[in-house]
Amino acid sequence: MARRICIAGNWKMNKTREEAVALVSELKEKVGHIQATDTDVVVCPPFTALWGVSEALAGTAIGVGAQNIHWEESGAFTGEISADMLTEIPVQYAIIGHSERRQYFNESDDTVNKRLNAALKAGLTPIVCVGETLEQRESGDTETVVDRQLSGGLAGISAKQMESVILAYEPVWAIGTGRTATPQQAQEVHAFIRRKVADSVGDVSQRVRILYGGSVKPGNASELLAQPDLDGALVGGASLKADDFLGIIEAATA
Ligand code: PGA
Repeated sequence: MARRICIAGNWKMNKTREEAVALVSELKEKVGHIQATDTDVVVCPPFTALWGVSEALAGTAIGVGAQNIHWEESGAFTGEISADMLTEIPVQYAIIGHSERRQYFNESDDTVNKRLNAALKAGLTPIVCVGETLEQRESGDTETVVDRQLSGGLAGISAKQMESVILAYEPVWAIGTGRTATPQQAQEVHAFIRRKVADSVGDVSQRVRILYGGSVKPGNASELLAQPDLDGALVGGASLKADDFLGIIEAATA
C-alpha cells in the first residue's frame, strides 16, 4: 500500500523568529515544486516562531507543527501551551513524546497518551515518537521498550483515530549523534511497530505512516526511505539548514 511520504523538520530549541522566517522563506521558494508530488513537508519551529513561520508559509503546501502540546484546554499550567492556542495560529501538526521530552522533562507513556488525545480532539496531526536507548538496544530490549511505549502512548486510541496519527521511530542513540540506524535496523523496528499497531487496530495499520528519525541527512535519506515500512523522516540537525533539508526532501521525492 502506498503511503504518502512525510518529511518533518524538528528544529528543537533553535532559531529566533527572524531566523525562522528567513529559513522557511528559503524553503518556500525552493520547494514550490513539491506541491504536485506525494510528499508532505512539515516544519516544527519553537513556539515563539510559530506565528511568524505560519504567516510566511500561508498558501503553501508546507505544514507547520509544534514540538509539544499540553492536554488541558486552559488553566494554571505555567509554561504550557494548549491545543486551541496552536490551532488558532494555525498549526496542523504536533510532535508528542520526543525522547528529549522523555529524557529531560519526565515525559511518560501516560502523558504521551494525554497529549495525543488532546491533539486528536483539536484536529491536529500528532507525530508520536518512540525509540530505545543504546543501553536498551545493547541488552536486546528494543522491542520490549518500543512495545511498552506504543501500548501506553496509544492506549484507547480507536482505529478511526489511528488513521490521523503519524508515528516516528527514533532510536535515542541515533539522535544528534551522527550514528544512523542502518536501513535494515530501522526497517526491522518499523515492521515491528506496524505489526503492533495491526494487533490493536487491524488493517488501518497499513495506512499509518511511520517516520524514521536519528541523524537523517541528504546522504542517507534515499537508502532509509527505500525500506518498505519507512514512510518519511523526522529530521533534527539537518532541518536547520535549507540546503540539507531540501536535499532530504529531494531524496524522498526522487
Ligand atoms: P537529529 O534529530 O536528526 O539531529 O538526529 C532527530 C530528532 O530528534 O527528531
